[in-house]
Amino acid sequence: MEISKMLLSNDDVAADDNLACSGLDEPHELYFGAVSPPVIQTSLFVQKNYQAYCDDMLHEAERFIYSRGLNPTVQMVEQKLAKLERGEACRCFASGMGAISAVLMANLNARDHIILVNNVYGPAMALVRQMAEKFGITYDVVLDGNLDSIARKITPDTRMIYAESPGTMTMNVVDLAAIARLARAHNITSAIDNTWATPLFQKPLTLGFDIVIHSCTKYLGGHSDLIAGAVITSQQRMAAIRDFSHQLLGAVLSPFAAWLLLRGLRTLPVRMPRHQENALRVIEYLATRPEVENIRHPCLATPEQQAIIRQQMSGFSGLFSFEIRGGHFATVKRFIDACRIFKVGCSWGGYESLIISPNRGYNEAGLAADHIAPGLIRLSVGQESPALLTDDQDTAFAAIAGMHKGEA
Ligand SMILES: Cc1ncc(COP(=O)(O)O)c(C=O)c1O
Repeated sequence: MEISKMLLSNDDVAADDNLACSGLDEPHELYFGAVSPPVIQTSLFVQKNYQAYCDDMLHEAERFIYSRGLNPTVQMVEQKLAKLERGEACRCFASGMGAISAVLMANLNARDHIILVNNVYGPAMALVRQMAEKFGITYDVVLDGNLDSIARKITPDTRMIYAESPGTMTMNVVDLAAIARLARAHNITSAIDNTWATPLFQKPLTLGFDIVIHSCTKYLGGHSDLIAGAVITSQQRMAAIRDFSHQLLGAVLSPFAAWLLLRGLRTLPVRMPRHQENALRVIEYLATRPEVENIRHPCLATPEQQAIIRQQMSGFSGLFSFEIRGGHFATVKRFIDACRIFKVGCSWGGYESLIISPNRGYNEAGLAADHIAPGLIRLSVGQESPALLTDDQDTAFAAIAGMHKGEA
């Protein structure tokens, strides 16, 4: 098995990305030289007189009036995320799903058609189904991300192509530049959930995508202590998202969560190479285990996918899955419970390594219908030392000795 290694050292993180994450260009002089910016924990900004208030209301989108619109701490993190994604504008939301729903609700009207490309995050898919039921939008899913298959699904009503790459669970990588070109040629808005790669390792706007979405809850925050989302796009596209979804749906980010996100971003360029390196070490270890099959991580992609990866990615993060050969619920449960370093938890992207399986015992029939192996395990590889992580996996394999062949 050939494991492809990409960006492995801190030196390879682009200097401008490093700068955008850091506090170096923050206006310290505005707050007494404090190296850590203040949390402007306010709902309201009072104006010096009524005329100033009336003038501000004319420029509501750019002025500090009310924190559902604009807040300085939130704005600071939005400016950093816009720089990282090479976008003109960013708005933050109360969660990644807040950002996803903001993009879909602002861009789709009744009877519009959306094409979902690759295996997208489950609740995003569920939201599209709800919007189909409640508001009459229509949708198609192209699981393999094949360009001809996407082109065949385009109708005169198609308004959006929504992608994720690598795809949730499958880790399938799709050709983002080609998809963006196809969308442009048909005057269709393209949007992508870029949470897995982070802007350090993939910048979809530079590949022609119109809108980038993040769950900042994962690597961008990086410490499992906040829930946040972000949308990055052009000024023009942002105007519609801001006026409708940000202002009227109102799922905006709080100043304190924005401050935690600022703090998390400072170490993103240090954390991501470590996530990558640790994940590769765990994958190298798993590849030696006879009990393991189907490790799904882009470092093991086919040569054809590797070519696409080299065009559009500069590194890998630490979320991936593998299967215990012949595994079932009892195997998965014993394996997970034997881990001490990998904690049981469903999120990802934080310091701590996490382990989970879609197999909950009572849902094996549903998994079979979705072609998901009952022995599937998902790991979010964190920041611990690699030896601790591989030793932990070693202990878990010892705990299931014999079981993977079907012995309960
Ligand atoms: C790929 C992806 N996108 C979006 C989300 C939603 O993010 P949040 O939990 O911040 O709403 C998640 C959450 O797990 C995710 O995995």
